[in-house]
Amino acid sequence: MTARDWFAKAQSEGFAIGAFNVDNLDILKAVCEAAAKKKSPVMLEFSQGEVGYFGLENIVDLVANAREHYDIPILLNLDHAKKVEESLAAVDAGFDEVHFDGSELTFEENVQYCRKIVEAAHTKEILVEGEIDKISGSSEVHEQDLNLETLKASYTDPEKAAKFVQATGMDIFAAVFGNVHGTFPNQPDLDFELLAAIREVLYKTFLSMHGGSGIPAEQVKEAIKIGKIVKINVNTEIRQAFRDALVEEMGENPEQSTYYKLTPDIVRAVMAVVEAKIDVFGSEGKA
Ligand code: 13P
Repeated sequence: MTARDWFAKAQSEGFAIGAFNVDNLDILKAVCEAAAKKKSPVMLEFSQGEVGYFGLENIVDLVANAREHYDIPILLNLDHAKKVEESLAAVDAGFDEVHFDGSELTFEENVQYCRKIVEAAHTKEILVEGEIDKISGSSEVHEQDLNLETLKASYTDPEKAAKFVQATGMDIFAAVFGNVHGTFPNQPDLDFELLAAIREVLYKTFLSMHGGSGIPAEQVKEAIKIGKIVKINVNTEIRQAFRDALVEEMGENPEQSTYYKLTPDIVRAVMAVVEAKIDVFGSEGKA
């Protein structure tokens, strides 16, 4: 089954596939172990920083090995590519999806670049995710409150989204309706009325929800139901689980200089977060 088939299945059966950012090998292992345990399809995604750390060719090989080893559907996504060349490199390398983030460009440039990527990607059955409304925040635990009024100004305008989809032919739209990158003390509520309006105008398009950390489980489930969201990106919560477990392990084993000996509990800590997300997303047993 291709990525398109998996998202179509998710949409018709009412579940979402978790797209987890892979910051290091332990996180890669934890996400795959958790998904295999839950018999769930999963998406591994790499931001440009993460690609810089691993190397594009290594990512493709690691994922190919993981598919064989874990025997579950593992989709591969390039997360928030800001440049056409980066996106085309992932298409050439055989990713399943490329998320072109043209939200900092003018609408016209965004359309023009996104179309170029769509043309290349669709010759290889690779999906393209597009973004027009810059998703606020960054993937970390924020101590400062968000300005909720300013935030609302960045929410998706359904009509503009429809124009973008029509003009580009892209496959997955990154909708913005209260979802933000990272966690905040005043985490905003999702705007379900807006989500329903986006769903209505983009009735032929897959929808993703970025900023999957920090949103209460009930709201995530409602978003999957109302918006038929098929892909939910998660980064902050897994990075935080990794970091907390690493700090704890190093504190408990101050003399240890063999890194891999510290990792079993770290992997377990990240797995717990991924398993909990899979429960909320409803993808358990769908592999
Ligand atoms: P969080 O860091 O809020 O989980 O968001 C991740 C994300 O959307 C990556 O594209």
